[in-house]
Amino acid sequence: MTKFQTLDDLDVAGKRVLVRVDLNVPMRDGLVSDATRIDAVRPTILELLDKGANVVLASHFGRPKGQAVPDLSLEPIVPVLSAALGRAVSFGDGASGELVLLENLRFDPGEEANDPAFARKLAGLADLYVDDAFSCTHRAHASIDGVARLLPSAAGRLLEKELTALTQALEAPEHPVMAVVGGNKISTKLGVLENLIEKVDQLVIGGAMANTFLLADGVQVGNSLVEADMTETARNVMQAAAGSGCGVILPSDGLVAGELAADVSWATVPADRIPADKMMLDIGPATTAAIIGQMNDCRTLVWNGPLGAFEFPPFDQGTRDVAGAAADRTRSGDLVSVAGGGDTVAALATANAVEAFSYVSTAGGAFLEWLEGKSLPGVDALSR
Ligand code: 3PG
Repeated sequence: MTKFQTLDDLDVAGKRVLVRVDLNVPMRDGLVSDATRIDAVRPTILELLDKGANVVLASHFGRPKGQAVPDLSLEPIVPVLSAALGRAVSFGDGASGELVLLENLRFDPGEEANDPAFARKLAGLADLYVDDAFSCTHRAHASIDGVARLLPSAAGRLLEKELTALTQALEAPEHPVMAVVGGNKISTKLGVLENLIEKVDQLVIGGAMANTFLLADGVQVGNSLVEADMTETARNVMQAAAGSGCGVILPSDGLVAGELAADVSWATVPADRIPADKMMLDIGPATTAAIIGQMNDCRTLVWNGPLGAFEFPPFDQGTRDVAGAAADRTRSGDLVSVAGGGDTVAALATANAVEAFSYVSTAGGAFLEWLEGKSLPGVDALSR
């Protein structure tokens, strides 16, 4: 595993610690609608405060592109953060106190440009730097890369936990390893598929992306969502998998309907019998059974993306059954299960599987880049 310092290596008592967190949380009508990322950084902040540090929290929110956009201020997060921590939080770039939250870093163009002057300004606020934002480690920005060059640095507890789990899942896993990759488009997951083929023993391809693989294999997929220009790519992926000894599970049956909507009539058909006016919206029971059968022989599972159109029941069934089986095997100690990226957490939540999985990442893009095997600037910065 990449070597990096943790909170155990820092003497923080009486010091000012700049902590990069990811408070880029979902908001609805000006209110935080999902506080998962806030809750996730509690342990680091409370540990630092309990050890006698003064904490300066820094985060981006949205993409204001170097301008002060009032709607993208971090101020509305303050009461939620304060309630989660049970501590008062002072807000703003000039604020002082035991616990301060800076304004949205991306209001300054220097943040995304990784401008050394902006990094120096941030470094001037503290004696030590802690990165606790795995979900931002794919960005070589001033608060992630530049500042880590200027201050003694360490990973916070969330980043430490995340990197340990990811290493266990893909860098030094117990084999056999199964990867489940779902979602709509091969084009956005090509790097992920190519990297996983090299590393895992079984690759499950689900979601609308699977339709393109079926089409590439000469199967008529009716009205199903496909990327017709990606069939050659799909064939190359299958060939590369065969060359690496990686088994691929594609849908052998599926749930079809005339449209993607709630309460539509649907049917289960073999994957090579999709009616011309129907679209495949979920894997069917035979596919689910095949995946679970293979999973029962596996020791490690990496999951990204839903297997069907899970927002519209009953097209959540495949995802729910497979996630439920993974959750059971994880609970019984037979499987290490790691999931993350995009819709994945919401999809696993439909199966109440999130708690049972060994690790569910709070990251979107960073998790995908890790699955692609790319090096992450934020992780590199800590291991320098
Ligand atoms: C995320 O939500 O994935 C992170 O906060 C990174 O946000 P970004 O894609 O705007 O850099």
